[in-house]
Amino acid sequence: MTKSQFPKDFLWGGATAANQIEGAFDLDGRGLATSDMTIFDEGDGSDFTFDVGQEALTEYLAHPERYNFPKRRGIDFYHRYQEDIALFAEMGFKVYRMSISWSRIFPTGEELEPNEKGLAFYDKVFDELLAHDIQPLVTLSHFDMPLHLVQTYNGFESREVIAHFVRYAEVLFKRYQHKVKLWMTFNEINMVLTSPYTCSGVISENSELSDYQLKYQATHHQFIASALAVKKCHEIIPDSRIGSMMCRLENYAESTKPADVLQTLHEDHFNYFYSDVQVKGEYPYYMTRFFQDYNIEIKMEADDLAILKDGVVDYLSLSYYMTYVMRDRGEEKPQPNGSLIATIKNQHLASSEWGWPIDPVGFRITLNRLYDRYGVPLFIAENGLGAKDVVAADGSVNDDYRIDYLSQHIEQMREAVADGVDVFGYTTWGPIDLISSSKSEMSKRYGFIYVDQDDYGNGTLARSRKKSFDWYKQVIASNGDQL
Ligand code: BG6
Repeated sequence: MTKSQFPKDFLWGGATAANQIEGAFDLDGRGLATSDMTIFDEGDGSDFTFDVGQEALTEYLAHPERYNFPKRRGIDFYHRYQEDIALFAEMGFKVYRMSISWSRIFPTGEELEPNEKGLAFYDKVFDELLAHDIQPLVTLSHFDMPLHLVQTYNGFESREVIAHFVRYAEVLFKRYQHKVKLWMTFNEINMVLTSPYTCSGVISENSELSDYQLKYQATHHQFIASALAVKKCHEIIPDSRIGSMMCRLENYAESTKPADVLQTLHEDHFNYFYSDVQVKGEYPYYMTRFFQDYNIEIKMEADDLAILKDGVVDYLSLSYYMTYVMRDRGEEKPQPNGSLIATIKNQHLASSEWGWPIDPVGFRITLNRLYDRYGVPLFIAENGLGAKDVVAADGSVNDDYRIDYLSQHIEQMREAVADGVDVFGYTTWGPIDLISSSKSEMSKRYGFIYVDQDDYGNGTLARSRKKSFDWYKQVIASNGDQL
């Protein structure tokens, strides 16, 4: 086993998103956000509830009392951030990845002046982190945007939203330039293919564009918004680093049949497309044919390609949870998959309770592939296991399964670093239990810190340390040696 591979300033920590932890959705001038409209619906447990259609949106706005909106309450980080940050510090976090709620700063997204109370909240959070020697890493937009921008512009379908985003980013860079040096633009930007509302504020039925045309046009606008934000960040905070963030969908061919391998290549391209543009600063060759085959024509302005070139990111970050198996689709043309559910089972892998295949070696493969392709530093923005924890009579949570999952993944990350891959940080997803993104449930827990709250908001919200808490503390203290 390889040891002591991590650089001594390696950034260990955890990652969260504003919409999944803050709560206080209507306090201190915050405007409604897209994430406030996602409900918990027990159903048969199979449907994701985070992409909202127009009919549902109208209904939720008219009759909010009929629905359970867990992301509106989060885990009350808004009032408990000091206690939570103290616990992160106790584990020895070097970095804390978090996002800012856009509608806390610009309630509708269209104001020209920011909401001071919103800005002041994040000042307090950053001060608290820095007092504990934890470096903040901020995602500008993590699956939420002002709802008003959806209702008025259909989100990033409209080019006008770019200017609103860049104004928001500029306000943050200026305000926090001395406190925050690490940034990311859009969380899992490639998820627009499966979740256009959550990712881009786009509702398909409100558009005249065909499905793919709409998704790729919104993508283009987000590319431009991201590139302009990167440029501003460099101008305003010269010693900053700003990255992109992709949901890495590592694909294996189901067999050695060339047609299966070809399908895997196509699926890979749909995933790489996003990082190709954001890291290399240009549209990759393989999209030309896809756009032709699907009659997709991206509307661009004269200097768009130059903006992309000018706004390449400093590093690439990714979430890694699982791998996928691909099979030839016969006569069907290649289609972007982007599915969050692995439809073809990999017989060699076990799965989480939510059916997500567990593949630590795939993590090493993905890190090597990405570094091979891009040669830029990598940051692991998310990795972790969602599980149903059981609280024992004495209040303890013995989450050995989480320790197993994380230690196996960190071990493979260590191997990748030994392979020569430049990885400069690792933040586990949800170091404290939070509201799940895809299903808005509380029972899918990722944390080292248990939060006493159920899917319906019952509970004391008290925080307690799980078994994995001390384990991660030891991982950080030994710089990844003791897993
Ligand atoms: C990523 C998101 O897709 O996966 C997070 O960036 C999300 O916001 C995480 O929480 C895990 O997904 P889920 O649905 O289990 O919360």
